[in-house]
Amino acid sequence: MAKKGQRRQDHLARQAQNEGYHARSVYKLEALDRKFRLLRGGVRTLDLGAAPGSWTQYALGHGATVVAVDLQELNLAGATCVTGDFTEAEMIKRITAAGPYDLVLSDAAPATSGNKVIDTGRSEALVESVLAGLPAWLVPGGGMVTKLFQGGGEQQLRQAAQAVFTSATLFRPQAVRSESFETYLVGIGYRGEE
Ligand SMILES: C[S@@+](CC[C@H](N)C(=O)[O-])C[C@H]1O[C@@H](n2cnc3c(N)ncnc32)[C@H](O)[C@@H]1O
Repeated sequence: MAKKGQRRQDHLARQAQNEGYHARSVYKLEALDRKFRLLRGGVRTLDLGAAPGSWTQYALGHGATVVAVDLQELNLAGATCVTGDFTEAEMIKRITAAGPYDLVLSDAAPATSGNKVIDTGRSEALVESVLAGLPAWLVPGGGMVTKLFQGGGEQQLRQAAQAVFTSATLFRPQAVRSESFETYLVGIGYRGEE
């Protein structure tokens, strides 16, 4: 018999399909939005690691304009879709040229090896790339959400975010699969470069 957690996960996948979302991940962003009030009309949003597109769909549905970036090709009506690696110099320039942004989202997940130490390190490298891009991308007062695998340097990364945001919090939405070790680093009130 399926466990309670598993039944909830299946339910979320079905609900996403019924509601026309490309992935069940949308309910993670919904929970983050409820808690941190990220998307309140007209928010210029950068969605990194956007495929298959449910976060972009959610942001568009809440009045945002969205630049969606992924290694995989995306075709999402209403969004500006860019294919490429957001950690590479050329892509950073393209993303910067399409900005600035009020909100930077990253649900980017590294290709996993099955080795928790390696995978956590890869996830941290993606978060570091997001943090490094903020001075060029995010307006003062803006917000950030970035996926992060737990079990490594999440407290150090939270502190790095705390240095540039009014508040920096680790938050794990209920929709995260029980067996997953992902969480989200949320920064509110970007202070900009000082
Ligand atoms: C969990 S999925 C994102 C799901 C998405 N938020 C949604 O709601 O549909 C993670 C994505 O991150 C992308 N990704 C990982 N590393 C990337 C990078 N360096 N540049 C761009 N995309 C990346 C992957 O291709 C993958 O599509």
